[in-house]
Amino acid sequence: MKFSFVALLACGLTVNAHAIFQQKISVNGQDKGQLTGIRAPNNNNPVQNVNDQNMACGQPGSKSNTVVNVNAGDRIGAYFGHVIGGAQFPNDRDHPIAASHKGPVQAYLAKVDNAATASSNGQKWFKIWHEGFDQGSRKWGVDTVIQNQGWTYFNIPQCIAPGQYLLRVELLALHSANQQGQAQFYKSCAQINISGSGSFTPSQTVSFPGAYQANHPGILTSIYGLTGQPDNGGKSYSIPGPAPISC
Ligand SMILES: *[C@@H]1O[C@H](CO)[C@@H](O)[C@H](O)[C@H]1NC(C)=O
Repeated sequence: MKFSFVALLACGLTVNAHAIFQQKISVNGQDKGQLTGIRAPNNNNPVQNVNDQNMACGQPGSKSNTVVNVNAGDRIGAYFGHVIGGAQFPNDRDHPIAASHKGPVQAYLAKVDNAATASSNGQKWFKIWHEGFDQGSRKWGVDTVIQNQGWTYFNIPQCIAPGQYLLRVELLALHSANQQGQAQFYKSCAQINISGSGSFTPSQTVSFPGAYQANHPGILTSIYGLTGQPDNGGKSYSIPGPAPISC
């Protein structure tokens, strides 16, 4: 029962309202196919301990020998669903994820020699994109994922140096995050090979685990305003992790 009482009352959710970035990415709108070039858990349970070894790419599950070719500047889509395969049953209200599971969505890269075989751990990550909370529209990153029927979209920055990378996409659900250890991290990694003429190398990188602290104000937080709505009380929200690179 990993969602809050408030959310239960508000939305009448069923019990297992988890989600997963699981089966696929798209490149410029072209779907690369189920589990192609993806490291994904075999279930939709989140990681909740920021120091868990599986904070990088999720619990070990499916593996792929494929490395997906992309160009710097390409628009990448990462697909989230309620369960592996997408919806759990027709008209699944918790697909791609329960609407109560508000929070930010982020994308990180780590340079590796061989994206098919590189360890998920011990990599040096930098952030290329995130969507947190927009105070004006009171919209969360997760709301955009739902609006896009499970897809989250971002571009590979033009400046990224060519080579192989792990792409880590993370969705953070904050519906119960007012207690330490109750924020839910959903993430997987994609194995990509970036082509282009960029030369960016990050001056600062972070580790997973390591990048996040359990008491960060974006991880230990109540997203409910005085009326009980998940609107962060109209306040700004601080996305965990470093700022996205700019180039
Ligand atoms: C990565 O892309 C480069 C440039 O397009 C290509 O020469 C190389 O074979 C690719 N590597 C893999 C593993 O696909």
